[in-house]
Amino acid sequence: MDPDPWQDDVLSSGHPRILLNCHRQSGKSTVAGVAATHKATYFPKSLTILGSPSQRQSSEIFRKVMATYKSMGGTNEGHDDNNFAFDPLSEAITETALTLELENGSRIVSLPGKGDTVRGYSAVNLLIVDEASGVEDQFMTAVRPMLAVSAGAIMALSTPKGKRGWWYEAWANGKGWKKVKVTADQCSRITREFLEEELLNLGPRMYAQEYMGEFVELVDQVFTSESIAKAFDTEVAPLW
Ligand SMILES: Nc1ncnc2c1ncn2[C@@H]1O[C@H](COP(=O)(O)OP(=O)(O)O)[C@@H](O)[C@H]1O
Ligand SMILES: [Mg+2]
Repeated sequence: MDPDPWQDDVLSSGHPRILLNCHRQSGKSTVAGVAATHKATYFPKSLTILGSPSQRQSSEIFRKVMATYKSMGGTNEGHDDNNFAFDPLSEAITETALTLELENGSRIVSLPGKGDTVRGYSAVNLLIVDEASGVEDQFMTAVRPMLAVSAGAIMALSTPKGKRGWWYEAWANGKGWKKVKVTADQCSRITREFLEEELLNLGPRMYAQEYMGEFVELVDQVFTSESIAKAFDTEVAPLW
């Protein structure tokens, strides 16, 4: 696979805080899968966590990790003679996590990014959050201290989902992030005809969200984000 220019940029930047606001089918999970495999392979004893709104979605990105890993010559059938001495010792499936453990002591763990499922792990070297706009703030609160200890990196990828939640806040107001936005008209694998059809099917609002990286009001939102923001008054001192 030849990476698209933005994928190349993300993989070679080495930036510790990356936000990817990229359209459906852009290849963001693919690039995150490559980043996870790279970390595990070249940084012995490292811990990479894959989080997303559900275990099903985290397993999806885990599959991309396995595909990259196998394409590099990795195998789960004993040792092979190439230079990659990182055959997985175990590929364990439990109720809440799916783990790839390599011979060099590195682990890649996929978890549902809910509540504090991540508690119990320590010193995370790379946190990948897929479909990040749907991941609970509480998960991020639980995982942040584990990144501090190990100077771990975060890569958070998503399409937008309204002006709310930690991922929106990071994208709109966060400092210190490398922010990468990719819209569908930039992708050579998607035709203009397909996009025109999607615009008709989804309507302009959902199309802008799914393919153009825009933070539109949610369909089921009673008040606009703007009117909610206006309802807050910074002049009033908190009671305690
Ligand atoms: N650079 C690339 N070259 C060719 N195919 C790619 C590339 N990046 C991604 N793909 C393919 O595009 C499809 C969508 O990729 P995926 O990572 O699932 O997108 P996303 O997570 O952004 O929805 C997959 O079939 C993937 O293999
Ligand atoms: Mg994806």
